[in-house]
This record gives sequence, C-alpha cells and structure tokens, in this order.
Amino acid sequence: MTNGLDTVLVVDFGAQYAQLIARRVREAHVYSEIVPNTITAEEIARRKPIGVIFSGGPASVHVESAPSIDAGIYDTGVPILGICYGAQLVALQLGGEVAKTGRGEYGRAELDVIGSSTIVSGGHQDVWMSHFDTITRAPDGFTTVASTPATPAAAFESDERKIYGVQFHPEVIHTPRGQELLKRFLYDVCQARPTWTMTSIIEQQTELIRKQVGGERVICALSGGVDSAVAAALVHHAVGPQLTCVYVDTGLMREGESEQVVEAFQRTQGIELIHVRAADRFFEALAGVTEPEQKRKAIGERFIREFESTAGGIEDARFLVQGTLYPDVIESGGSDHASTIKSHHNVGGLPEDLNFELVEPLRSLFKDEVRRVGEELGLPEEIVWRQPFPGPGLGVRIIGEVTPERAELLRKADAIVRHEVHEAGLDREIWQVFAVLLADVRSVGVQGDERTYGHPIIVRAVTSDDAMTADWARLPYELLAKISSRIINEVKGINRVAYDITSKPPGTIEWE
Ligand code: XMP
Repeated sequence: MTNGLDTVLVVDFGAQYAQLIARRVREAHVYSEIVPNTITAEEIARRKPIGVIFSGGPASVHVESAPSIDAGIYDTGVPILGICYGAQLVALQLGGEVAKTGRGEYGRAELDVIGSSTIVSGGHQDVWMSHFDTITRAPDGFTTVASTPATPAAAFESDERKIYGVQFHPEVIHTPRGQELLKRFLYDVCQARPTWTMTSIIEQQTELIRKQVGGERVICALSGGVDSAVAAALVHHAVGPQLTCVYVDTGLMREGESEQVVEAFQRTQGIELIHVRAADRFFEALAGVTEPEQKRKAIGERFIREFESTAGGIEDARFLVQGTLYPDVIESGGSDHASTIKSHHNVGGLPEDLNFELVEPLRSLFKDEVRRVGEELGLPEEIVWRQPFPGPGLGVRIIGEVTPERAELLRKADAIVRHEVHEAGLDREIWQVFAVLLADVRSVGVQGDERTYGHPIIVRAVTSDDAMTADWARLPYELLAKISSRIINEVKGINRVAYDITSKPPGTIEWE
C-alpha cells in the first residue's frame, strides 16, 4: 500500500495514543503506519519514512521495564517528533533530564512559547497535558522553546538534527492548535507531500485488487455492515462483474435492512447479488434454543452452511473478500495491548479453512476512512453510517427462545426506537441504540379498561469509542417518553418499556 507514498511511522508506546496520532497524520493527508517500539534503527532506515513520531504511553521512563527504542534511530537523519512519553524518552536518551518532581500535570495547561520555534506557533496557547514525570532539562544542543508552570521544557527542538519533543498531546482535540503543530512537523520539517486522499486510496486499492485477482471470480459475503459493504464496493469498483456478493437473510435482521442491502447493491451499484432467503431454516435451527452461546453457535453454523452451498454453486470463485481493518492487523509492541485484541466478534464468522484466497482491501484503513471511502464510492448514508450490529442479529436480543413471531415483535419495537433517536438528531452521538425483548417475562398492565399481561421491552443506548467500554447514553426524558408510549401503543403484546442504565464494564452492550 505504501508504494510511492510519503509515509510517517508512528512508534507505539501505548496503542490508543499511537492510533490517534496515526489518524491525525492521515487527516493531514499523509500516510502513516504504526510500528512496535522494538523496531530497529536499521529497519526504520530500510522503510525510508519521511518522519517518525514516538507516541505517548502510560509507563514512566524511570521504571526498569519502561519501553525504549534503539538509540541508533537518532543517527538515521530521519526527522523525529516525540510526544509525551515519546518526548521524555528522546530527552532521556539524548542526555536531557526527566525528573520525578512529585507534581504531575493533568488536563488543560497554558503553554508559554519562548522565542521562535519551528513546530510550536508563538505566544500562549492551551494544550492538554497528562504526565507524572517532567522534562526538566532539554538535551545539550537542543533549544527549549516552550514551558508551562509545571514543565520547564514542555517543548524542545533541534532543527539541525530535525528532532523535536513536546510534553503535551497535540493529537487530542483539547489541544486546539495541535493539528497545526503536527502539520508543521509533517510539512515544514519532513517536507511531506499531501498524497493520502480518498482518491489515492481508491486508486491504489483498485490497482492492488486488479493485480491480485487478475481475471478470476471474487465472492463476498455481505452482512449489511459497513466494512463488508465498503470492501465489496471497492472490489466492484476494481473488477466490476467479476464480483458476486452473497447476502444471507437470516430473518434476524432489523426492519428494512435486507431491502436496503438489495437496493444499494443490486439496483444502485449494479453488483451481482445472490439474496439467500434462509429465515425459515434459521428459525428451525433455533427452535428450543435459549442459551446465548448455543444460539450464536446455531446461527453461525447455519450461516456457514448457507454461504457454502451458495458459494459452491459459483464454480470458478477463487477469491473471498474480507472487511479486515487496520486496527485488527497492527503489530503492537506497546505497553497496553488494546490493538492486539481482535475485533470482538467476527461478523458472519466464516471458517478459515474455506478454500479461498483472501482479498482484504481495507487492511490499511481506519474506520473513519472506511466510511469516507464508502461515501466516495456512492454507498448510501444509511449503510456508511450504520451502527454496529451483531452477526447473530435480533437472535441475541430476544431473551428466551427465538421464534418468527417474537422476532417480528422486536423488529417493530426496535424500528420505533431507532426512528425516534434519528428524528431527535442523535444518531451520530450514539454508538448503538436498540430494543431487547424479554420474551420469557410477563408483567401485568392496564390498557383502557382491561388488564394486560404482556412482555417488557428494554431500550438500550450507549456511547462508546470502540465497544470495549461504553456508557449508557443520557437520552432526554421527552425522547424516552415518546419511545415508550409509541411502543406500548403500536406494538401489540408489549405493555412495559424500561431503560437500561448499565455501563460497560460491568455490563456488556448486548443482553446476551
Ligand atoms: P458486548 O455485548 O460484548 O458487545 O459489549 C460489544 C460489541 O460487539 C457486538 N457483538 C457482536 N457482534 N457477533 C457480532 O458480530 C456477536 O455475537 C456479537 N455480540 C456482541 C455488540 O453489538 C457490540 O457492538
């Protein structure tokens, strides 16, 4: 993917820090890759990056096992920017001083820029700090260009050696002029060319896909989710009619979802799509199953069988498209291992022993880039901005046995929840919002003159960045009131609505 692109390597001293920096660099139209801190100076030189950024990280440079880096890197002549932990490491390895002052600095701080600097713009500016140890003296030969009340050397640089260090975090939004700093490093110091654009991503991938698959047939299992949709659209862009998509309709999709997939792919994009209507067979496989993992297994196995029997009919297919993203493939050497945790669940989970060669056109992209590529390729907003949805679908949101009637009930309630949140303009603030049916619970109610004995619906809405942790969304009371009264009035069989106010941890996002 890097062929011909100016590339910045981000050294990972903390996975979340490194990923955010890599994304910010890309937002400035420069391609970035994350590498472990065990990378050697030789390897760096071999990869010919235009610059290297050391990320922040949770460790202290003073503990014995503190992650470090091959000091030979400072002699490669490649421009280096150290951020937070990365800056402390630069200071320490080049002979400066990092002290335990006993006084950390967290949150907003006012940066005082002393004299002129290549990467920090002059005067005062707000920056975001998060550190315990403090850089008290820049290495010899370096100029201290900024300080805060708690950090004497908050930014230091050597134009001659093209090495820079900042104690604050330019990559976070709480440093308003942070992106400007990164751009100064990228453009003024590294002489980057702004080559990382949607057009270049699509062009490069198109070329790679064509090279990989030649004139052969490619198939793609669409789940309805963003990743498989964009991967399919990209492959179609590259090899057109050589692509056949398979969409397995499990009967556990949300309202309007299957129609949306068929509409977007078959009609709008003109992609050959095999729509497997398998709801009956899924419900049959789920009869009598109530245990969550059993359900997942039953659904997963059925899915594979449906896919295999369809794909088996496409005789000349040799390649299979997968929507693997960059965070799933980053080799992490950082001190926290968030990036090595595989994407939580494999949607549509296809087994590895299928006899296909994989085509993974999203392997170097972050999620926000995947969405932008999707938009650029003309996929509808509802697909590109879709919230995550579990592979087993409504099956794991019906607590109890899954039957067609119960799925229908939940589908209706879920459509109301999502519609009202959409109308309230809250879609993009909320990570996931959905309904859960407590199919084995009944409670007494009164509607009109009659007592009712119906099922409760749970409304679940969470905010999150990555589904690893989540908080329950503070939906406005008026919105909750509307959702509740619409569900009870419009969905027969439901007489109670409750809102789930559990965070993750200790809860999970889904109920099963
Ligand atoms: P939990 O419930 O573990 O969910 O907090 C985290 C994220 O994963 C999704 N999820 C699944 N996705 N198959 C999937 O493809 C599954 O079996 C599955 N279970 C949970 C969930 O919607 C959330 O985004």
